[in-house]
Order: sequence, then structure tokens, then C-alpha cells
Amino acid sequence: MSAAPETPASESTATDPSVAAAEAELARLRAEAEAAEAQLKAAQAKAALAAAEAEAAKARAGGPSTGSGTGARAAEQETPAAEREAPAAEPAAAEPVEAPLPAAAEPVEAPAPPASPAPPAEPADGAPLDADEVAAIVKGYTFEATTLDLGALVNGEPVPEAQIRIPLGMMNRHGLVAGATGTGKTRTLQGLAEQLAAKGVPVFAADIKGDLSGVATPGESNEKLLARTRAIGQDWKPEASVTEYFALGGVGKGVPVRATVSGFGPLLLSKVLGLNATQESSLGLVFHYADANGLALVDLSDLRAVLTHLTSDEGKAELKELGGLSAATAGVILRELITFADAGADVFFGEPEFAVTDFLRTAPDGRGFISLLEVPGVIDKPALFSTFLMYLLAELFEILPEVGDADKPKLVFFFDEAHLLFKDASKDFLAAITQTVRLIRSKGVGVFFVTQTPKDVPSDVLAQLGSRVQHALRAFTPDDAKALRATVGTYPKSGYDLERVLQELGTGEAIVTVMSEKGAPTPVAWTRLRAPQGLMSPTPDPAIEAAVKASPLLAKYGTPIDRESAREILAAKMKAADDAAAAEEAALAKAKADAEYAKQKAAIDKQQAAADKAAAAAEKKAQQEYERLLKKTAGTTRTSRSSQKSPIEQILNSKSTQTILGGVIRGIFGTGRR
Ligand SMILES: Nc1ncnc2c1ncn2[C@@H]1O[C@H](COP(=O)(O)OP(=O)(O)OP(=O)(O)O)[C@@H](O)[C@H]1O
Ligand SMILES: [Mg+2]
Repeated sequence: MSAAPETPASESTATDPSVAAAEAELARLRAEAEAAEAQLKAAQAKAALAAAEAEAAKARAGGPSTGSGTGARAAEQETPAAEREAPAAEPAAAEPVEAPLPAAAEPVEAPAPPASPAPPAEPADGAPLDADEVAAIVKGYTFEATTLDLGALVNGEPVPEAQIRIPLGMMNRHGLVAGATGTGKTRTLQGLAEQLAAKGVPVFAADIKGDLSGVATPGESNEKLLARTRAIGQDWKPEASVTEYFALGGVGKGVPVRATVSGFGPLLLSKVLGLNATQESSLGLVFHYADANGLALVDLSDLRAVLTHLTSDEGKAELKELGGLSAATAGVILRELITFADAGADVFFGEPEFAVTDFLRTAPDGRGFISLLEVPGVIDKPALFSTFLMYLLAELFEILPEVGDADKPKLVFFFDEAHLLFKDASKDFLAAITQTVRLIRSKGVGVFFVTQTPKDVPSDVLAQLGSRVQHALRAFTPDDAKALRATVGTYPKSGYDLERVLQELGTGEAIVTVMSEKGAPTPVAWTRLRAPQGLMSPTPDPAIEAAVKASPLLAKYGTPIDRESAREILAAKMKAADDAAAAEEAALAKAKADAEYAKQKAAIDKQQAAADKAAAAAEKKAQQEYERLLKKTAGTTRTSRSSQKSPIEQILNSKSTQTILGGVIRGIFGTGRR
């Protein structure tokens, strides 16, 4: 069945017995492997038959043909009834092997005991498929409606008559582009994007390494490229696509894309902050509180202000009222938020908030815009940018109306480095992604995940992906090998030894299966992909800068605005509280000062009184002394102070006498003049 690796058998066997023995062993192993494969195929066929019979029985019983929760079939649970009719013909091929990863991996991994081998007839020249199988592929990829061309079948050599395509109308059934590094994922994405745009479908893609920007520049031809494209029947010409560049928070080259914190929501924010499930639900409560209190969460400082408030003395009561949010958790969230903002993430949040409808533009000539989110500037924040992509997708889901299945999608969204999105994702977060992906196709949006191995994508999401372009996989480690087998297990039955073929694929080649117009998987085809018509390297910086500068969107999103939001409101509230506290303090200080004054005044009064008393006493003493002196000088003295003064008194009261007496008195008080 499968292409045996070439061995230099003819020259060496005759001469070296150890080589001969090794080769005999190799031949034995190969026969065993083929026998095992034959048995596996027989088992698969039996399973397929059983499934088909079950399906037929169900149909006879008049029950609806329900998806079996497997692979692409699970996605079909969402399809209108008309489309679900197709399975009657197809399930035999699809059902048993389309199961989600873990289940499907089992049968493949179980070693089939070697039975009496009847190796299938091998087509000539290392071509894995025989003529019938090739014919089945040609038929499987012939569609009535408009298609995108992926490339040509490879059967040992490229078979240009066997073109591998994907119906344009099926691009909203989502897809996966996977493969080891350097195998051609980005070029596949580029080729799809270019063709979609040329057919009037806007495309959004994250340009992770900056090398997708080449879509905006015509490609460069060379002999090698032309030989390749000729061989697969591609009439290659250089061609540029209408491109718009975006940059998260304006970091890097592009029109700034920002989100408000409330727009982003607690779930996505928890993901970027790396919060656990408890903290995630607590953050939800904080958002709820802000909402209920009219505190707009525009940027990170707003959320910070709300958390600070709730963890402060003033906010304590409100925190308690919220219930389910502990001060400790609020504190942890606040710390994470501060670290996050300090790492420069605050520029991604704020206003003007990006309107995702701007991704749905078409040029005046009818071509779709390719919107590239240039992310090299934020590649050190992988969780942030992957979560941002999810945010944009969720926004699209929010704003777009239902369209059902149209003849072409409204937008195709390429989710590069998708593993970053799913890594460490909480259960709620995963459920939200799965739900968005499942439902967004009825809004005419196709999502293509681009990642290294299908294992990166949770099985619930994988089950929604109708088209697969699987580039080469490596199996260097036991884990790689396991992932490889698991990947093989997710493919429909085929004439390939996928475990081997997936390791043998050349650069720009892939194992392809897509969703047919009827919503059934097409036959698995080893495909050499078309070359993109744009540049396969980055568009030069000056050209990108000029394009950004000329963008009409720059006026709309170029300058951040800062309106009154939670931070300002809480700051004002805080200020009012501060002012009240200050007034109170001032009153207190005044009272204290008054008291002090009164105290001091009392002390002074007392002193004064004492002084007065002393003065009075002194005067009295002086009076006595005077009277004594008077007595001495005038014999008997009348001390009574009758109003009628005696003649002596009259004399004494005269000015001159007083002066004389004064001099005497002073002498008596110790001045010792006399
Ligand atoms: N369809 C194709 N036609 C012509 N050349 C191709 C094609 N696909 C890939 N190549 C060649 O292989 C190179 C690597 O491809 P690409 O950059 O797409 O790999 P990748 O899988 O995205 O790698 P990484 O994981 O490192 O991003 C391209 O630069 C190009 O030279
Ligand atoms: Mg790449």
C-alpha cells in the first residue's frame, strides 16, 4: 500500500551477509506492518459498515440522523436538516475514524496481531494510491460552486489533473492548518487569504512573525518556484492583496486596536492575568459591582481603582455586601493587575475601542481587505495577544447578524499560534471558546486555527473544524510519536499509511481533507500546495509605514481618549471623603487650640490676680508704714478715713508733703537713702 522507502538493496545484498540479514529482518517487519495495516483497515471497514447499518436503521425508524459526537459529525449537529441528509451516503467513511482525539487514538495504538498477510496491491513507482483511489479523489474534489484552489494531488509525482480544492461556501465550517515548524503553514494561510480576498471575502489574520505582510507586495518569481507551480498546474503570477495593518494598543506598525476593560470582560481578563477559577469568578463580581455602581471600566487604572476601593477601609462594607469575594482574593487580583499593567499592558486597554466591523471591509473593486494584526511587538506577551484574538472573535459574534449558510463567508479569521489560546485555559474559558466557534459560523465567519499539532486544540474545538491541512509532523520524541498517532486517528479512512506519510511530506505539502458542499468530509489527499502570489517574506517596513499613515482608520483610532470613568469617579469620591476628613481634622485642631488658649488665659489671669493681690498687699503695707510713720511724727494718729480731712491730712495730701513722704517711704523699703 504505502511507498516503501528506497533501499540500496541491489548493490549490497550479494556481498555483505550482515546487510542481507538486516534487510531480511526489514522485509519481515515490513510484511508484518502491512499485515497489521490490512487488519486495521478490515476492522475499520467493519466498524464503518456497522455504523452505516446503524444509521440506516435509525433512518428507517424515522428518527433524525443525529451526529454521533464525533469529529466533523459533531459539528453537524448544528447543520440544517437538509445538510444532514448527506451522511446516509458518507458515514461509512467518516464515522469510526472521526472520533475526537483520545477515543480515536485507541484503536490505532492497539497493536494488531499479525494475521495471514495479504498485502494489498501496491501501485507502481512508490505512488501510494492506485488508479481507482486517484479517481475517487478527483471526484471527491470536484464541486459545482466556487472553490479555492489548494494545490494538486501528489501520488509519487504531482498529478495536476487531480486538483484539491475547498468550496468557498464551506469556509465558514472552520479549519485547521497544522504542521511542524518550517513546513509551510504560513504560506498555506497566505494562499488561502489571498484567494479569499480576491473573491471578495475579507480576511483577518494575526501576523505572528511579521512574514505574512508579504501579501501586500507582489511575489518574486524564480525558476524553482515556477517549476513547482507548473508541475501542480498553477498559473502563477505575482499579485498583491489590499492590506490593512493593525497593531495591538498601537505597539508596532499598524492602526491601534484597543479594547475597553468592560468590553474585554472578566473571563478574558482572567486568562491574561493568569487567574485561577476562584479568582476568575471573583473578578466577575468586581465587574458586576462596577456595573451596578455606574463605574465605567475603560482602562486598567479603572479596574485598579475599583479593586483598591473595595480593599480600602471605605470599601470594606461594600466588599462584604458583594458576597463571595474575599479581601484576600481581591488583593491577589489587584497585585496581578498591577504587575500586568507595569509590564506595559495598559496600552491595550482604553478608548477609542476598536469596532470589529472595520475588519469586514471590501475595496472599491470588490476585493476583500486582508486585515493583518501585526504582533511582533507583543510577541513577549503571547497570552495577551491570543486572548485578544479571542476577544475580537467574540466581538464579531456579538455584532454580526445570523446569516445561515451563504455562498461565501462574511469574513475568515485565521487564528495563528492557536496553542497559546488553549494553554492553561480554564474550563469556563474553554467552554466559551468552543461555544463561540460552534455558533459563529451561522454568522458567516469561518475560523481557521493554525498550530503545530492538532493536539494543541481541545477535542471539542477540533470537532468543529471541517477542513484540515496537515503539514509534516515530526516524531523525534515518544510524545511526538504519540501526538502523531493521535493525529492519524482523527482522519477519515484513507488509502495512506498516514503515520508514515505525515513524516514524509515535503515543505509546502500537506494531507488535506475538507468539507464538501454536502457537508461531508472529502477523501484524504496528499497535496502539494499552491504558492502564494504575494511575497513569501515580509513587506519592507517603509511600505508598511506608508500604508498605515494613509489609512482612513488612523483618524478614528489613532489617538487615545480619556473620558470620565471609574478611576475619576472613585478619585472624586475619595477626594470628597478626604475633604470631609480634612475639615473634621481642622475643627478638632481648632477646638484643641481654643482649649489651650483658654487654659493659658486662665493661667495668665491667675498670675495677674496674684500680682494684683501682691500689689494690693504692698500698698497696704506701704499704707501701714505710712501710718506708722505718721504716728511717729504726729503723736497720736487717727487712722480713720473720715471724709472730712484733718488739717494734717490736708497738709500730707499736699503735693510737696507727698514728695517728702515718698522719699522716706522708699527709704523704709530698703533703698537706704536715709
Ligand atoms: N506552498 C508553498 N509554495 C512554495 N514554497 C513554499 C510553500 N510553502 C512553504 N514554502 C517554503 O517553505 C518556507 C517555510 O514555509 P512557512 O514559513 O510557511 O513555514 P511555517 O510552517 O509557517 O513555519 P513556522 O512554524 O516557523 O512559522 C517558505 O518560506 C517557502 O520558501
Ligand atoms: Mg509560520
